[in-house]
Amino acid sequence: MELNELLRVNLKKYSAYEPGEQPKDSGWLKLNTNENPFPPIPETITDIKNALDDKLRLYPDPTSFELRKDILNVLLRDKNTLTNRNSVFIGNGSDEIFDVIFKVFIDPGDEVIIFYPSYGFYKVLATLYDAKITEIQLTNDFAIPDSAFNAKGKLMFINSPNNPNGKSFGNATILKLCGSFPGIVVVDEAYADFSDQTCLPLLKKVKNLIVNRSFSKSFSLASLRMGFALADPDIIKEMNRVKLPYNTNYIGQVAALSCIKHSNKIFERNKKIIEERQRLTQELNKFEGINVLPSDANFIFIKFEDKSKTLKFVWDLREMKILVRHFSKPGLYNFIRVTIGNEEDNNKFLNAFQKIAKKYLK
Ligand SMILES: Cc1ncc(COP(=O)(O)O)c(C=O)c1O
Repeated sequence: MELNELLRVNLKKYSAYEPGEQPKDSGWLKLNTNENPFPPIPETITDIKNALDDKLRLYPDPTSFELRKDILNVLLRDKNTLTNRNSVFIGNGSDEIFDVIFKVFIDPGDEVIIFYPSYGFYKVLATLYDAKITEIQLTNDFAIPDSAFNAKGKLMFINSPNNPNGKSFGNATILKLCGSFPGIVVVDEAYADFSDQTCLPLLKKVKNLIVNRSFSKSFSLASLRMGFALADPDIIKEMNRVKLPYNTNYIGQVAALSCIKHSNKIFERNKKIIEERQRLTQELNKFEGINVLPSDANFIFIKFEDKSKTLKFVWDLREMKILVRHFSKPGLYNFIRVTIGNEEDNNKFLNAFQKIAKKYLK
């Protein structure tokens, strides 16, 4: 057997997504993958423990009925958005939902619009599905350029707040793109709970919009892989037709339901992350030679005036067992992305940064 001859042709040009490092040994301060620094609240841990019962023997609800109900009636109650239960899709994290969207819409050669820089997984999927990728460069201040309003294609991915810089795109821009783009506009709001902006109300105005949300970030459930999308029921129906029958598991559904039940408490706690984001930004902006970009997310993007200093910081932080994210990609060499930790984590990061700054910054 010659394996290479059996593989799909387009796998030859395909490079898999490279997840941020997850060290196996202990003692690391992980500020590299935008996880929530707080564990799930005790109520959710209890709900998960109580769910470890006879139900584990059974297949989970393939339609996540209870979860869809509570997403609309509780979590999004005040968001002025769709209310029909058939407008919600539940996925195994946002990443699976993107995959399902590709499965529904993309034949080889179909055009997909992505912005640069943004979350890298859209491009990985587009390559996997053999789409024609049109990458539109964001402006120097990470805004959507006018050329995007002439873009044509089947799918357009917008990440708001955008990873890696952290800023949201305004609803006026998103609405205008929904008007000008002939295909489906997907807005990935994985970090929107850390901002006061959301495009969920736009779903009542346009039909070619899918809004994606995650339980990984604001709800501290990254390991259980839960996410959801909201869109017109006709779109959701197609997504349900192609998803794997049991794409989310029972414990994940229980945990997500618990988070929704206690969402006020969780959002109250997340305010600490937003306060810490402000504090970290202020403290870091006191250093000469760097600039912290404004962020609506649970991470900040630090720009180094002197590109050659950037990797020195990354490596010295690593020596101190602190992981941050650096992207070896055009236009991003002089930035590092740092996840907001809890107060203690952030103090540790600031102290380390100060020590390194003495070596490399004026
Ligand atoms: C912008 C963005 N979208 C989606 C994801 C993945 O989310 P999930 O854990 O729900 O698959 C990430 C993860 O880092 C992300 O940065």
